[in-house]
Amino acid sequence: MSFKVTVLPADREFTVEPGQTVLDAALAAGIVLPYSCRNGTCSTCEGRVVSGEYDAGPAPARILDAADLARGHTLLCQARPASDLVIEAREVRMADDIVVRKMPVRVLSLEPLAPDVMEITLQLPSAEAFRFQPGQYLQFIFKDGTRRSYSMACAQAEGHRVRLHVRHMPGGLFTSRVFGAGDEPLKPREILRIEGPLGSFFLDPDDPRPIVFLASGTGFAPIQSMIEGMLARGDARPATLYWGGRRPADLYRQALALEWRDRLPGFRFVPVLSDAEPGDGWTGRTGWVHQAVMEDLPDLSGHQVYACGAPAMVEAARHDFIERCGLAPDAFHADAFTSAADLARVEA
Ligand code: FES
Repeated sequence: MSFKVTVLPADREFTVEPGQTVLDAALAAGIVLPYSCRNGTCSTCEGRVVSGEYDAGPAPARILDAADLARGHTLLCQARPASDLVIEAREVRMADDIVVRKMPVRVLSLEPLAPDVMEITLQLPSAEAFRFQPGQYLQFIFKDGTRRSYSMACAQAEGHRVRLHVRHMPGGLFTSRVFGAGDEPLKPREILRIEGPLGSFFLDPDDPRPIVFLASGTGFAPIQSMIEGMLARGDARPATLYWGGRRPADLYRQALALEWRDRLPGFRFVPVLSDAEPGDGWTGRTGWVHQAVMEDLPDLSGHQVYACGAPAMVEAARHDFIERCGLAPDAFHADAFTSAADLARVEA
């Protein structure tokens, strides 16, 4: 049986078919609600059910606060209606010409950026346009049906090519192939299958507030996409990038970030290391990257934040920026990297 869902405050309606989640049905109807992982691990799709019955699935109880659960908050990528629903959720404005598609891609090149980070350049079919908003991601779909998500590290598909940054995850099946391990290392010319673009992690063009970009590790990739988009558009909003890693090699595109300072008026770059060793010769900031933001900007009430990286960093930033620095909850935009290992932990 299908059910009607009304989204407040926009007062938009769509129909959820049997077996569909609220998020999937909204996206199919062209209504973009905030989302990232689509598997119940990141909380980006958190919304409130005002009225109606639904099956929340097990994920909200694992990752949402008890107080929010009691107020009807749930994960819209997991919720399946059992009656008509009224929900409260923010709607994201997406460019009209963005269409999610599945397509084959060819691996063009693999370039090491750091001992454990590889840049993969993919050649897309020349007959199909692949438009995306800077900050979005794509998913590889493997033969066994498993998927892996990677953000585009470029502002657009120039020459039908996109670039991704892949970190080597110990034991990760795909990332081990990328780093040449096992019987079948990934090689140029190999054909893979993707779906995209996906996600709601992109800049709000109408929000004039100064931007704080917060990245850890390869969370830099979608931030690079957004900043290159700002450069291309001549977007001169004040913006500061805080990029955190453990050791200097983790900040694998520092030279590029320093170059942006010269090209983008009002842009600042603050690299932060958590585990610098004396031999690294590091003279910059140390500690946790989100704490560096709080030291510099104890009042975030007039800012907007775009955060991407390890789930623990993103969640700590979300909590501390809102609770301790006065950031408006709807000004925190995030894309958490959930690996297969993260998902297994949540499902355990
Ligand atoms: Fe729903 Fe991540 S938990 S999109």
